[in-house]
Amino acid sequence: MIRVEHLRKEFSKSVVPITDLNCEIHEGDVVSIIGPSGTGKSTFLNLLNRLEEPTSGKIWFNGEDTTAPGYDLKRLRREMGMVFQNFNLFSHQTLVENVMLGPVRLLGKGRQEMYEQAMDLLQRVGLYSHALKYPSECSGGQQQRAAIARAMAMNPKVLLFDEPTSALDPSMVSEVLSVIRNLAGSGVTMLVVTHEMTFAREVSNRIFYLDEGIVYEEGSPSDIFERPARKKTRLFVHNIRCLDWHSPDGTMDYPGLRGEMERFAYRCVLSQRLMNLLNILLEETTTLLSQAAAPAAEAHIHVEVPERKGEAQVEIRWKGKPANILEEADEYSSSLIHHVCPNVVYEESGEWNCIRGSVRDAR
Ligand SMILES: Nc1ncnc2c1ncn2[C@@H]1O[C@H](COP(=O)(O)OP(=O)(O)O)[C@@H](O)[C@H]1O
Ligand SMILES: [Mg+2]
Repeated sequence: MIRVEHLRKEFSKSVVPITDLNCEIHEGDVVSIIGPSGTGKSTFLNLLNRLEEPTSGKIWFNGEDTTAPGYDLKRLRREMGMVFQNFNLFSHQTLVENVMLGPVRLLGKGRQEMYEQAMDLLQRVGLYSHALKYPSECSGGQQQRAAIARAMAMNPKVLLFDEPTSALDPSMVSEVLSVIRNLAGSGVTMLVVTHEMTFAREVSNRIFYLDEGIVYEEGSPSDIFERPARKKTRLFVHNIRCLDWHSPDGTMDYPGLRGEMERFAYRCVLSQRLMNLLNILLEETTTLLSQAAAPAAEAHIHVEVPERKGEAQVEIRWKGKPANILEEADEYSSSLIHHVCPNVVYEESGEWNCIRGSVRDAR
């Protein structure tokens, strides 16, 4: 259905996110595209629907060369729907108008017919009763679901998603993923750039790991997540299970840490309960640290989720005079910490202090 040959995109002499990308996408494929940020994942999607012009190479779509002169790009963009990170809804129009607009303007369909189709689509994404609201009256998750309905309204052959959940509040990620998951069952070909690894694993039949401007490794979800063949893929797959947070001067920005913690938890799809336990542990220990008699000069927090879910290992290290903040803690904090992290221990080595332990979702 799509064949990409020797695709290259140079933004400038030194910025060449796509160097020589080759791949083939078959009808009905659900491909998750993963990789570190800045490796050209968005650029790749933008090249496919030709929001960006390739520097060289060819993109075949249904047997036609989309890079050939005279190719109908308007048709291409109708047949390849795109869902962006930031929803991109028209703010002065209601949800149903947003969904109707494309078919009425671009396909010349009748308003009544399209209104009915739009309402059906809004129903499918769980927004029937919100149809007359404006985007600003809706949550991020609702706006993104409306954006998906809008893309579907054009009846595209291919849907491209560029990190559809990464601008969302963590509590809204799952409602959007479940809409995409349902679409994946309906046979539409999809390419999804995502950091949601559990989603990628469950929903896609193929994973592309992008790096060095190419599809560095591709395979089934179990190939990529359980048996990655190449070194960078292995590092990446391992890395998504770790959160590393660093405070160069020892100050504790707990709200910032909590935000990162929540994004991390959603990336690894930790249970709500495990995430809550982690938050309690981090809040209590960082509070103790910021109140400690001997202030930290530098601090690191490392959270790691092993292959089997339901558990997270936590290590909090800080530089400074030896100080067992677990002993300095009042009874309430101390019992809370031991409750969420029963195996918590304090150690010192040289100028570094360390608290480590694991948090478990006991259910
Ligand atoms: N329109 C542009 N002009 C110049 N450089 C760009 C443009 N779009 C992306 N880049 C650069 O190309 C590289 C890849 O970007 P992008 O495709 O957004 O990566 P990803 O989506 O994997 O994070 C980055 O270095 C980015 O700064
Ligand atoms: Mg991107």
